Amino acid sequence: MTKAIRIHEYGDADNMTWEDVDVGAPGEDEVRVKHTAVGLNFIDIYQRTGLYDIGALPATLGMEGAGVIEEVGASVDGFAAGDRVAYAMGLGAYSESRLMTTDRLVKLPDGISDDTAAAMMLQGMTAQYLLKSSYAVKAGDTILIMAAAGGVGQILSQWAKSLGATVIGCVGSEAKAELAKAAGCDHTILYNSEDIAERVLDITDGAGVPVSYDSIGQATVQASLDSLKPAGVFISFGNASGPITDFNPGVLAMKGSLYMQRPTLATYTRNRELLNAAAGDLFDVVASGAVSINIGQTYPLAETVQAHKDLEGRNTTGSSVLIP
Ligand SMILES: NC(=O)c1ccc[n+]([C@@H]2O[C@H](COP(=O)([O-])OP(=O)(O)OC[C@H]3O[C@@H](n4cnc5c(N)ncnc54)[C@H](OP(=O)(O)O)[C@@H]3O)[C@@H](O)[C@H]2O)c1
Repeated sequence: MTKAIRIHEYGDADNMTWEDVDVGAPGEDEVRVKHTAVGLNFIDIYQRTGLYDIGALPATLGMEGAGVIEEVGASVDGFAAGDRVAYAMGLGAYSESRLMTTDRLVKLPDGISDDTAAAMMLQGMTAQYLLKSSYAVKAGDTILIMAAAGGVGQILSQWAKSLGATVIGCVGSEAKAELAKAAGCDHTILYNSEDIAERVLDITDGAGVPVSYDSIGQATVQASLDSLKPAGVFISFGNASGPITDFNPGVLAMKGSLYMQRPTLATYTRNRELLNAAAGDLFDVVASGAVSINIGQTYPLAETVQAHKDLEGRNTTGSSVLIP
């Protein structure tokens, strides 16, 4: 018997319970992973509340983990008991151990600790596709990043800086502004008290930015659009303040022939080749020292309720790790 954090119905953080779960032996194409560290991500909140449907309940939450393979099914190829592995976008991570197929798994290089892997696989591969594929950041670009002191935000900021960009980061407090600056932001905007677009136009001498990486959603959509230069790209990759529900594409025309993308990591890691490329790029940039993974807080897995309250209450910084 092992323990897991599960929900029986969608709802608030207190709906999650720490329960006994019988994991059993892996099926033919499965492995059993014993988690040493589990990642905490905002998508876990969307899935807990039901904003994102996760299918039949009860279910074990959590999309990201690191650990060791304990046992492999008969037809599993390329993975063996004892391998150190990690994954993102694999529902069921809030558990001491679990069964899963190998399509989301990558082997961990020696230089990446389990805690770092659990902190970065989802947020780091997201930063990778945002900066390399959604909009390819190049030296000399001035770019806008929302929630720059958060998990994705600190990785995005550091990585963009290493690509030669000037980074404007929006944050919710002075303390977070300091963290965002330490993560490479050249300018910070306190978006609770300052006008984002006004500041961006001021910083860019009226030109605007070619891209806004917007994870906030409803609260910042207009500010993102107003900060873009003609034919700029609005990348709406999250809903921390709530989903955008009233979007008229005509506004893209009115504000300067803009582009909009609503991407997801699942698309950009949808097969083994893409997954290995994204993970490899992330491992390389972390090994190079250009990006360091800032674990702002760690919780026992059994205390995931508090971790969710902190994340949705804007009380976390950097990445968060849950320890089984
Ligand atoms: N599409 C994808 O592929 C993908 C993948 C990974 C993550 N994401 C998205 O990226 C975002 C960041 O994820 P994360 O896990 O790294 O979280 P995070 O940025 O560490 O935490 C969320 C932050 O959003 C800010 N925020 C602004 N308004 C908020 C509100 N009303 N409620 C809560 N937070 C608010 C807060 O920072 P301030 O106090 O500084 O405002 C908060 O700390 C999320 O929106 C997530 O859904 C998308």
